[in-house]
Amino acid sequence: MSEIQKRIEALRSQIDRLNDAYYLNDAPEVSDSEYDALYNELRALESEYPAFDSPDSPTKRVGGAVLSIFEKVQHTRTLLSLDNAYDAEDLRAFNKRVEKELGEHVVYTVEPKIDGLTVALLYENGKFVRGATRGDGETGEDVTENVKTIRSVPLSIAHALPLEVRGEVFLSKAQFVKINTQQERLGKEAFANPRNAAAGSLRQLDSKIAASRGLDIFVFDVINGVEGIDAHSQMDAFEKLKTWRFKTTSIEVFEHMESVIEYIETMQEKRHQLPYEIDGLVIKVNHFEQRERLGVTAKSPRWAIAYKFPAEMAQTTIKEIQVQVGRTGVITPLAIFEPVKVAGSVIGKATLHNQDYIDEKDIRVGDTVFVQKAGDVIPAVVRVELSKRPGTSVPFKLPENCPVCASQTIRKAGEVALRCINENCPAKIKRLLMHFVSRTAMNIDGFGDALVEVFIENGLIESLADVYTLHTHRETLENLEGFGEKSIQKLLEAIEKSKSNDYYRLLVGFGIPLIGEKAAKTLAKYFPTLESLMGAPVEALTAIDEIGDKMANSLIQYFSQPEIIAMINRLNAYGVNMGTALKAVTEGVFSGKTLVVTGTLTRFSRDEIKAVIESNGGKVSGSVSAKTDFVVIGENAGSKADKAAQLSIPILTEEQFLLMIEEVSG
Ligand code: IVH
Repeated sequence: MSEIQKRIEALRSQIDRLNDAYYLNDAPEVSDSEYDALYNELRALESEYPAFDSPDSPTKRVGGAVLSIFEKVQHTRTLLSLDNAYDAEDLRAFNKRVEKELGEHVVYTVEPKIDGLTVALLYENGKFVRGATRGDGETGEDVTENVKTIRSVPLSIAHALPLEVRGEVFLSKAQFVKINTQQERLGKEAFANPRNAAAGSLRQLDSKIAASRGLDIFVFDVINGVEGIDAHSQMDAFEKLKTWRFKTTSIEVFEHMESVIEYIETMQEKRHQLPYEIDGLVIKVNHFEQRERLGVTAKSPRWAIAYKFPAEMAQTTIKEIQVQVGRTGVITPLAIFEPVKVAGSVIGKATLHNQDYIDEKDIRVGDTVFVQKAGDVIPAVVRVELSKRPGTSVPFKLPENCPVCASQTIRKAGEVALRCINENCPAKIKRLLMHFVSRTAMNIDGFGDALVEVFIENGLIESLADVYTLHTHRETLENLEGFGEKSIQKLLEAIEKSKSNDYYRLLVGFGIPLIGEKAAKTLAKYFPTLESLMGAPVEALTAIDEIGDKMANSLIQYFSQPEIIAMINRLNAYGVNMGTALKAVTEGVFSGKTLVVTGTLTRFSRDEIKAVIESNGGKVSGSVSAKTDFVVIGENAGSKADKAAQLSIPILTEEQFLLMIEEVSG
């Protein structure tokens, strides 16, 4: 084996091990950047030496293959379903039947019933060769490319005989919320629950999209393994699966059905604390030999049963349907109802997504509705109780114009969302500011939505850069109702601190369409300064695995706007970290000019305006002379302003100064 090949193999096994630590054990062993360094080294070697490339390399998890259809797959053994139990009586009856049939005592295992979709994974010679959906149990679809992107699926295992394992592909509650937020931002239909979102993601023809969804898997079954491996029970099988590095569900063993029933009661509550959704528990006969004797019916095994949790729903009435405008202009209806308790917490509102959703369920103000929490997190109106509808009710229609700026709204082909198309819609700007200061973006402590609203109302901020001039309004801030000197001090400190954030946070904060936290982190890795990113041609962007054409175009379009450049220049002048600081511009509106600044400025501190002048090519001087080209005046400008007037030197107010740089920066 050549040195190169050895290095490639070593990197692969090291990365596989680190992946396991991260994705299986939730215990990262190295920092992200150390991991990235290894990963990038491997990727570079594989592309330089294609002869040593391999389909089961950890670099093949990012997707890439785009299919036109999914091939059909004939399952070797039918994927059965399970009979359901809904209460303790059903479980006792099941136990009675089983023990009677076997004529002996039975030990059970209990696993969570993951609310996702079943897949069958095939391994040959220790390599992952195929992943297929359940389909109708006999025939499924070949989703190999997408399954490969699931980090917790081992691409190779220490077992040479053919092996089929089955499990449930799912999305965590957190991923579900993320994906739905993204869907709505794109004007696409939101998924009703994590299962639908997982199914939609696993059935993506473009595996890059599937890769971006963060799917996960729990494996719970080894097929044709009993002969090939030394396992005699479900517990043994799980041990075996774990040694092959599969991610298994939790599993408990119980000697009696009564203990199973007690356990189920505790899980009824605990399930809300799990990071993924479960819709019940699966009770299985532990010993394979007993399973053999019990056999299967046409549809389901006689040795297992699914206990289904009751759907957690509540009835309430809709008081009002509000209409909101989001950061990207998407107009969303929001149902406000009498608060009710569902799945452990009180909810009082739920998004109705779009007009199609409202029409389909015919939701109206005054209706009595059933509400639940989709994915255990997102409040949702499931259906209307028509028998309780007041006679006076009328269908609900979204307004034809933006409810905030009254501009025209449009619905693009293929989208369900209605959008306000006015770039300067105050609602959009407000949401953008809220997003900019939020935890995922600039993470400014104590700067919540309510503050953004107050500051906008008082004319203190209207663009992102204004966040960094708030300290110049200290007095106004302290006089606002409900604000004290201390809280303002704390806020200003938090704002100041955010200037030295990692620059990917700034990228997130811009709210560039399609560029979320993950894409921003990736971009910041490949383009270590904002300046290099701004100058990147489309090919340089799409050369990055995770960045597709649409994202690249969105970036180019964003950075081509003059007002955006001006805003970025201001942020730069205020000292907001942009990787390494943007290079001083030697050519600019003030090239070769000398400026004097005098009086109290509202938008800039002295250091800030100095930086802005210099980044636009100018020099700053302390005193006015015949060589001075401009004098920028703030409030209470004294003798320097007088002298400028005497020498007929052009005087700029702060606004005129800003206009000059903003016009030219574009
Ligand atoms: S065992 C022959 N275990 O529930 C037994 N199924 O209604 C096959 N499911 O199609 C199923 N979690 O997709 C089993 N821990 C678990 C499960 C589980 C979720 C799903 C599975 C199956 C459906 C049965």
